[in-house]
Amino acid sequence: MSPGNPQHDSTSPSASSPAQTPPWYQTAVFYQLHVRSFFDANGDGTGDFAGLTQKLDYLQWLGVTALWLQPFCVSPLRDDGYDIADYRRISPAYGSLDDFAAFVEAAHQRGLRVVTELVINHTSDQHPWFQTARSSPRGSPERDFYVWSDTPDRYPAARIIFHDYEKSNWAWDPVANAYFWHRFFAHQPDLNFDNPLVQDAVIDTLDYWLKLGVDGLRLDAIPYLYEREGTICENLPETHAFLKKLRKHVDDRFPDRMLLAEANQWPTESVQYFGAGDECHAAFHFPVMPRLYMAVHNGDRRPIFDILSQTPQIPRSCQWLMFLRNHDELTLEMVTPEERELMYRAYAFDSAARINLGIRRRLAPLMGNYRPKLELMHGLLCSLPGSPVLYYGDEIGMGDNLALPDRHGVRTPMQWSAEANGGFSTAPSERLYSPMIVAEAYHYERVNVAAQRDDPDSFLRWVKALIALRRELPALAVGEYEHVEVDNPKIFAFLRTSAEQTVLVALNLSDETLANQKLVVPISSARCYDVWEEQELALNPERLITLTLQPYQFKWLLLERPAA
Ligand code: NOJ
Repeated sequence: MSPGNPQHDSTSPSASSPAQTPPWYQTAVFYQLHVRSFFDANGDGTGDFAGLTQKLDYLQWLGVTALWLQPFCVSPLRDDGYDIADYRRISPAYGSLDDFAAFVEAAHQRGLRVVTELVINHTSDQHPWFQTARSSPRGSPERDFYVWSDTPDRYPAARIIFHDYEKSNWAWDPVANAYFWHRFFAHQPDLNFDNPLVQDAVIDTLDYWLKLGVDGLRLDAIPYLYEREGTICENLPETHAFLKKLRKHVDDRFPDRMLLAEANQWPTESVQYFGAGDECHAAFHFPVMPRLYMAVHNGDRRPIFDILSQTPQIPRSCQWLMFLRNHDELTLEMVTPEERELMYRAYAFDSAARINLGIRRRLAPLMGNYRPKLELMHGLLCSLPGSPVLYYGDEIGMGDNLALPDRHGVRTPMQWSAEANGGFSTAPSERLYSPMIVAEAYHYERVNVAAQRDDPDSFLRWVKALIALRRELPALAVGEYEHVEVDNPKIFAFLRTSAEQTVLVALNLSDETLANQKLVVPISSARCYDVWEEQELALNPERLITLTLQPYQFKWLLLERPAA
């Protein structure tokens, strides 16, 4: 995506005509949640599908259009469900398969898409495949479901991802009498994709969930499927070949679905996950995320501008997914060591906030709970080229709890009301899966949905209005991106242009009032309309606009194109 170049490659073989209805994931506003954390209908202290179904009206009211659910299958929960012990059974704590089916149906009735997870790089060590593998004869297909070695020194160039917890990617298994390979926790052995039986089992799992009506699958940890000596064991050609096979399988059987790549990589590598429009439909844009925080901290557009400039075009049928925060640490893997230092100094001065290569805090605390900054971050999220993903609770400015281990401090129960347990559960508070947030500024009695829903000036109502406006402006969803030069680096401005409209986005990344800033609109336009202020803006014949931006303010200006 170079400064003047579009986001999409219009020559790509799978490019759909711009006049066609765009695929749903290109116009979606995603909302990420964990069933466990959302709403507890049966009062046992853990959120469940019946509870989530009860809260669908809230999500529809908020205006999001697609729900991404984190893993909910049977699991020992040593990695919050990313350690799966049975790919087909729902953890009984969350309900039954019937509850899941009722949820999907109720979501679809409300026009909400459902995205779940396909965690296929690894399983839990409790999975029957692993239990069978460890006691099966060497060289047998059952044993070869996983990656074994007699020594822990193969693939030395592969980095250790959870380096606060693990010292090696190999762990000794006394039953197998061998080491097994794991890219994450040592209780999560990696599946062996060189074994065709593993590939078949993964495809069966995909079929199972897509037949249940799921609209999309997030492919967890997808860069790490294969291991090859002499490589870093990431983004290997074999992984892309497997993804092409998976995509063809989906295209042949399940129309209108989405495969979403979780590939925390530099743009040149992550675009590979789109293939030529024949791998994943969507991928998270990881490197943009920390640069939003850098830009706001520095009051300078360059970090965002630079990374977008380094982002290659993607096939027209594909889409980036943008996010501010998620259930993991705010990852600093895709920044330089200097940038990482800056981020730690700016946002995690307290070392308790650091984990692995990242920061384990929620959005509101990161922004000092300062409303104009929270609005600006959401403004960026909803303006940049890609579909926005909101993390549950961030729409009300929920806080975090650094006293909880690992990443659990950003996974506390949703705060619905000022009632006991924030209205999340009627269980005694000591039975909740996690304590509620009670730190003063973020206490559930103060920060909750009920209070903000009734207050027209609340942050929640503002987020709802933002989503509604964005959904009215198709250019922000599918439009191409073109940088607009402004002398002042505190301002980031760009055009988003779709077949039917052009929106000029201008954001003040600084804490200063910027008066009389001059900006030349690069297209001829008859009218310029500020959609937030609901007023016309003067446009002189030289296409010059003069803007005044309050600290952290952003504007969406609809440019009316002269009739052809
Ligand atoms: C990526 C997930 O987002 C993260 O939460 C998990 O710990 C790792 N995959 C390993 O499963």
